[in-house]
Amino acid sequence: MKTTTDLQRRKLLKYTAIGIAGALAYPSWAEMGGLAKVNAASTDFLPDVEIELNMKPAEVAILNGEKTRVWKIIGKVISGPSGVLDNNDGTYLAPTLSFKKGQKVRLILNNNLPAQSILHWHGLHVPANMDGNPMYAINQGETYIYEFEILNRAGTYFYHSHAHGVTARQVYSGLAGLLIVSDDQEQALNLPSGDFDVPLVLQDRSFDGQNQLVYSAHMMQRMQGFLGDRILVNGRPDFVLPVATRAYRFRLVNGSNSRIYKLAWDDGTPITVIGVDGGLLAAPEHHPYVMLAPGERVDAWMDFSGRALGTELTLRSLPFDAAGHGGMGMMGGMGGGMMGGGGHRGMMGGGMGGMMSVSTLPSGSDYPIAKIRVAKKEQGEHSLPKTLTPITALQVKNAANADKPKTIALSMEHMSALLNGRSYKMDDVQPDEMIPVNSLQLIEFDNGFGGGMHSMMNMPHPMHMHGEQFQIVKREMSSRSSENYDTVAAGFINSGWKDTVLVMPGEKVTVLKPFNDFKGLFMYHCHNLEHEDLGMMRDFLIK
Ligand code: C2O
Ligand code: CU
Ligand code: CU
Repeated sequence: MKTTTDLQRRKLLKYTAIGIAGALAYPSWAEMGGLAKVNAASTDFLPDVEIELNMKPAEVAILNGEKTRVWKIIGKVISGPSGVLDNNDGTYLAPTLSFKKGQKVRLILNNNLPAQSILHWHGLHVPANMDGNPMYAINQGETYIYEFEILNRAGTYFYHSHAHGVTARQVYSGLAGLLIVSDDQEQALNLPSGDFDVPLVLQDRSFDGQNQLVYSAHMMQRMQGFLGDRILVNGRPDFVLPVATRAYRFRLVNGSNSRIYKLAWDDGTPITVIGVDGGLLAAPEHHPYVMLAPGERVDAWMDFSGRALGTELTLRSLPFDAAGHGGMGMMGGMGGGMMGGGGHRGMMGGGMGGMMSVSTLPSGSDYPIAKIRVAKKEQGEHSLPKTLTPITALQVKNAANADKPKTIALSMEHMSALLNGRSYKMDDVQPDEMIPVNSLQLIEFDNGFGGGMHSMMNMPHPMHMHGEQFQIVKREMSSRSSENYDTVAAGFINSGWKDTVLVMPGEKVTVLKPFNDFKGLFMYHCHNLEHEDLGMMRDFLIK
């Protein structure tokens, strides 16, 4: 597969940049403001918003006592309306960017980190060279300029590092933040806003005795995905939110490397879902609990009116069984050998989920996430709308490949996680990965549904595709795993626009995805970041 001319140019520029910047020691080069640009701002792009984003090492107070060394992004508004940027000072969270549909944004990314990096706008429909493909990674002392129009509908999006092979580590260090898009349709609904529109970024971290982040990427953690032993919300441990007796909009974002949450209110109140990855649903849905895998978002409505002052409520992750039955026998043997222990089964009895976990907070266990305290009386004038925003259902018959779905088989082998048996390689698009621009495609993610693709272990895979949002057509479950499936099935939101979908062991999920407007390379990958780094990632070439 031949490279794009863009990439050629990029490589050329990169070598030039190393020549200049490499001679100078960090951080003096960066602080002099002399960052080397790898691409130029275009003169015919007139931005409504222009923001500079500086990535650099920093120290923040997360736990009591010593500060924690993180990688922080600090933004500066060069031009644009107020309220577009919140740096989330004092936390490792990257700035929250708030844009409006139709705005033209220029984001100037400066890399002052002692590593290569690049940012990807997760869920946004932007040109290929603005999408943060790992081939655009910039070195320390370099600048990458993004210019794009916000084409997406209102919703909760986010952004994060996408540097090849180190995405998991970099996101863990702090390179991830929220990107909120609003539009007129959403505004007209008069949903809770301002202080009553609260993003909750869910992440897990482990700390050592000196309050420093611990990240281990041994074989076991990479195959399973890294699991921290503490839950942080918006970068803070033991998160407590005081609320008033009125309605709230909570934007829940799973920014964890690999942890899957089964979200529920501890008093049994159903979760009222008003939005997912790609914005508001057509109408609210009530679920006893909601599954939220890495990369997924859910907007929940919660009304505290009528609750007594002082009432406490906890958002929890409930127990579930993440493993397919097929994986257990094999893991028994592997656990014995690798952990020196003799294959104890984890609390949930699942193969990968519990048994192999080296975290004190295994995947699928039962734990609190955030505490809510009703602290203020207030007259709430918001009531839950019966309908939200209209969504046109995509039709299978309109897919370019309506009777020949593109199958993506998910599998794991020793030390690798594969898509159709392939591992990630830059510039390696195969014929079945080429897609005509402006076509609608029927795509199925097969996680051992028919037992077809041989896989050594059965794990859930949150599958993500760059570019435009997709719709879920159907979920099919092989009967042999249905027992485990019952512990999660009621928590899937299958309506609305999605960019990430959790595919359970033994499951096949079929989606319809438009590939409009932009040609070039767009990634598809597992959003378990350790799996992604292990190679469970490929490019589609839209042409
Ligand atoms: Cu959020 Cu390619 O990822
Ligand atoms: Cu993405
Ligand atoms: Cu995966």
